[in-house]
Amino acid sequence: MCGIVGILNSKSLKSDAIEILKKLEYRGYDSAGISLFSDQKIRTIKSVGKISNLEKKSKNISDKFFSGVIGHTRWATHGVVSRNNAHPFANENLTLVCNGIIENYSQIQNRYKEIPKNIKSDTEVSFYYLSYLIDKYKNPDEAIEIFQKTIRGNFAFVIFIKKNNCFYILKNGSPISISNKNQSFYICSDSSILSNYHDTIFHCEDGDIIKINESKISYLQKKNKISFQKNISYQNPYDKGNYQHFMLKEIHEQPSVLKSTQSKYTSEYFIDFETKFRHLFEVDKIVLVGCGTAYHASMVGEYYFNHFTNKEVSTELASELRYKKINKNKQILYIFISQSGETMDTLMALKYVKSMNHKSLVITNSLESSMVREAEVTIPTYAQKEVGVASTKAFTCQLLSLANLALELGRMENSISNQIYKKNINLLTKLPSKIKKLINEFTPNAKIISKKLSQANACYFIGRNIAYPIALEGSLKLKEISYMHSEGFPGGEMKHGPIALIDKDSITVCLIPNNDLFEKSVSNAQEISARNGKIIILSSVKNMSKINGEIKVMNMPKENIIDTPFIYTIPLQLISYYFALSEGTDIDQPRNLAKSVTVE
Ligand code: G6P
Repeated sequence: MCGIVGILNSKSLKSDAIEILKKLEYRGYDSAGISLFSDQKIRTIKSVGKISNLEKKSKNISDKFFSGVIGHTRWATHGVVSRNNAHPFANENLTLVCNGIIENYSQIQNRYKEIPKNIKSDTEVSFYYLSYLIDKYKNPDEAIEIFQKTIRGNFAFVIFIKKNNCFYILKNGSPISISNKNQSFYICSDSSILSNYHDTIFHCEDGDIIKINESKISYLQKKNKISFQKNISYQNPYDKGNYQHFMLKEIHEQPSVLKSTQSKYTSEYFIDFETKFRHLFEVDKIVLVGCGTAYHASMVGEYYFNHFTNKEVSTELASELRYKKINKNKQILYIFISQSGETMDTLMALKYVKSMNHKSLVITNSLESSMVREAEVTIPTYAQKEVGVASTKAFTCQLLSLANLALELGRMENSISNQIYKKNINLLTKLPSKIKKLINEFTPNAKIISKKLSQANACYFIGRNIAYPIALEGSLKLKEISYMHSEGFPGGEMKHGPIALIDKDSITVCLIPNNDLFEKSVSNAQEISARNGKIIILSSVKNMSKINGEIKVMNMPKENIIDTPFIYTIPLQLISYYFALSEGTDIDQPRNLAKSVTVE
């Protein structure tokens, strides 16, 4: 996890490092630190909490006599959140930062008496270990090579050694890229950030050790030259505009990003689907894989594939799939869904299925990501950078991608007629304007519901069929940003256990689209109100008869199966947002979370 920055030979070391760390805060914000260095001196400043604390603390420190800086923002894995455990770890000769986990740190710690026994951070253990190696071997290059061979795990290290005035970058699993112009280098765990600095880029690969000595960059172990490519520039996504939070901005961006995603798909991506994709879909089974919100998108995808195609399809959590036995005799296409393209569980699951010779496709919002480099085929979502930790626009763009994919496959294998295909594509094309209207119309209702939630102890979400994953997503959103206790359930399962949770202090949001399961879903709501649970109903069925205990019926637009998940997601995003706003939580950076989880 965590975010790393390194800058060499720039006029604005400190301010650029702080600026980049702020952009990296989505990867964690438990603590942060920077080390300024030169061949004479290393100066380290660390603080607990967000980058703004570090900024204040380093305000009066000049970077004038330094040639470089490394910095880090932390999401704690090993060792409590404290100034001591903040990176960089430094002494008078060495400073380093790490993103990832060193799995064999306790073996290393036990083996060397030079490493203190009371330290808990895997990176601090690595720091003592490398420092021991630098003392032992005359040549720091040798120490670095032995260090890299010994440590095990997924990591990226950025290291400065004063002894030889050299800078090293080590990669195994966690992303790290370098941008360069003339003598100046910018290093970062998020390559998209680098486009604001230099226009050429190099993505380090697993196993790489890169050494920069003043302005000379080379591999430590390989003879080849490092070749930089042109860097693509991005719009500045770190501007909230008139919105109070990125999350609200991103909720409101959905009509436009859904529009651009759909138009890319119809104008280029899925044109000539057969030639591009037939080979990929000639399989016995499709398995959709993701984590968190992306897992909920996978679940929606399962309903789409099930409805529009004849393929056998199922869903897996990436963190579980990694450790399951995989059927080698069946031909399986694994579809990985990830906003960041960097989630370690998903990335490892992708590597795992590839090693078993199965086919892989990645749906992602980050074209520069590690998953794109691994997958056979990538389908981009065009949601643009999502900054809020709680995913909103990336999720609905993932749904759009899956809806298109299921329709194209259905048409290719003749499981749906051309007419049905066209009707549904038409619905998807109209979706952005429907969503825009819904956001505007539902906002006052979301504010009313958020007031009701403040009187409850717990909030549950229920839905059936394609509304079931949306119930899970609604619940995840609410707990992520408001910390209220919340669960999502399939409506039909309530009676098998969860209904025991219902009491007068609970509120259940019931998603009741107008489909074949409408009546059964109404019964599920009634069963809750019969146990004194309060209910809020979201439904497109007008004039529903009153249910006891119901505190609100919200009218949704008319839906079809393909647009149901979008229509029911929007109100839940808005309810969570306005409830969290009233609770005063840190909506864009909720406690204990990070946007991109690059540890297992
Ligand atoms: C983290 C985030 C979630 C996100 C999940 C998957 O847990 O907090 O909001 O859904 O990672 O992220 P990905 O980038 O793979 O979609």
